[in-house]
Amino acid sequence: MEIFTTKIALNQRLLKLLNEQKTIGLVPTMGALHAGHLSLIKKSKNDNDITIATIFVNPTQFNKPSDLLKYPRPTQADVSILENVGCDILFLPAETEMYSSTETWHYNVGAIANELEGAHRPGHFKGVTQIVYKLFSLIPADRAYFGQKDFQQFLVIKQLVAYFKLGVELLCCPIIRETDGLALSSRNIHLSETQRKKALLLSATLNNIKNNYTTLPLADLLQKAKTAFKGISDVKLDYIEIRDKDTLAPIVQYKTPNAVALIAAEVGDTRLIDNMMLD
Ligand code: PAJ
Repeated sequence: MEIFTTKIALNQRLLKLLNEQKTIGLVPTMGALHAGHLSLIKKSKNDNDITIATIFVNPTQFNKPSDLLKYPRPTQADVSILENVGCDILFLPAETEMYSSTETWHYNVGAIANELEGAHRPGHFKGVTQIVYKLFSLIPADRAYFGQKDFQQFLVIKQLVAYFKLGVELLCCPIIRETDGLALSSRNIHLSETQRKKALLLSATLNNIKNNYTTLPLADLLQKAKTAFKGISDVKLDYIEIRDKDTLAPIVQYKTPNAVALIAAEVGDTRLIDNMMLD
């Protein structure tokens, strides 16, 4: 695997690839790679001549400095993982390579930024679009791969690509879970054994909603879900919502198709998100 830490060096390599008419798949990440990230790399390898992964812990998308500070950065292990899976190119820039100290970013994420994750993490999606725009501008990818795990992020990036007419095809890949249902996340390493068990409540709640979506009224489904979180120490439910999977508009009618259930909760100091399609 070739590793580039500067835009200029990566650019030279990209020009060669474009000359050779290679198709490029891009997998943006913040590292601390797990099987969820690898599923994106594998899909990209399957679809494209060349797969480029990026690892950059993007400071502008963290609204809590403590969260940014404790974000895991096992770079050596990540490099080995990417080599083993056959990733072709890794872009691993330093913060100064991606940001100048004076820059601003005025893209209006729109109403979606005030919903769900946006409401709980002000400025988060602004930071996500800022870095993803930079990566898309730098790397002329034919396709870019994102996980359904961050479903709202996927929709935000879809809007960004449409707004700037970036001409990259976006693929939303399934959520990879542990066998007991916990969605893989770089943040899971912060969970103690007891907290990890409590974290299973997120996927269990989503499964419950999915299994009863066509038999129970929405209000009952959501009430049951909220009750399940009551009185559990060290766990705080941020939201559990049933939304339209294209617009994220709230679903109000019983059995409406194209619905997705989305959940976020804090387990100890660790914020976890998950979601499940209900059709
Ligand atoms: P990160 O959290 O590292 O995730 C990188 C990609 O992996 C995202 O598209 C995410 O949805 C996907 N992913 C994470 N966990 C997954 C799982 N269990 N199954 C399948 N895919 C999973 O998301 C980001 O980084 C950043 O916001 C980024 C887009 C790189 C911008 O900084």
